Amino acid sequence: MNARYTKLLVLIITIIILYKTFHYFQLTEDGNIEEEIEDIGKVTVSVHYEALCPDSKFFISHQLLPTYRDLTKFISLDLIPYGKAQTIENDNEIEFHCQHDAIECFANKIHACVIEKINEPLVQLEYITCMIKDNHIPDEAGEKCGRSLNLDYSPISECASNAEGSKLLKKHGERTNSLNPPVKFIPTIELNGSQNLVSQPQILKDLKSALCTVLNYKPSKCS
Ligand SMILES: *[C@@H]1O[C@H](CO)[C@@H](O)[C@H](O)[C@H]1NC(C)=O
Repeated sequence: MNARYTKLLVLIITIIILYKTFHYFQLTEDGNIEEEIEDIGKVTVSVHYEALCPDSKFFISHQLLPTYRDLTKFISLDLIPYGKAQTIENDNEIEFHCQHDAIECFANKIHACVIEKINEPLVQLEYITCMIKDNHIPDEAGEKCGRSLNLDYSPISECASNAEGSKLLKKHGERTNSLNPPVKFIPTIELNGSQNLVSQPQILKDLKSALCTVLNYKPSKCS
């Protein structure tokens, strides 16, 4: 083999190697690394909200759902429907007083039951978002949103009208009441259990950017 052919061969091999390397990085950028890193850098997003609160409605439908769709693998979703309610216990009865009256307490119970009964977080969030958009007749919203997601509303309805719903709502109340500093504004968002990893106004205005600043690994959706 003469020198010219050797050079040509080396050139061709170099081109193939470069192409393969480029191709590999393209692939990983589109998801392989993100698959692998799935459990390393998740941030828990805890949302303390209430069913009839306009600011909660706005945050959940315009920030939380779209951000969750973009950054699913990096978010551990944690919904706490309770807000500024009060829990009153006497004997075996648990009663609630809610900021937007009894309807809201019932709506919160339905939300609590959706969260309890639906394990897939995206479906759970879609259900909650659908309901919070028009929650004024909670039972109808629950039924309608269940239908739109092809889910049976009856176990949720059953839960919400019974002691199970009250127990779940009480549990959410205990979590909201244990916030430190105490809850002032609804919704209040914690990232990995902290209210000030990123400031509340920044989170409420742009959850995705807030998460992108705290995530250890920057997903491609962050750029
Ligand atoms: C959040 O907590 C998870 C689990 O403990 C941890 O892997 C991650 O690094 C934390 N993220 C931030 C931004 O603190």
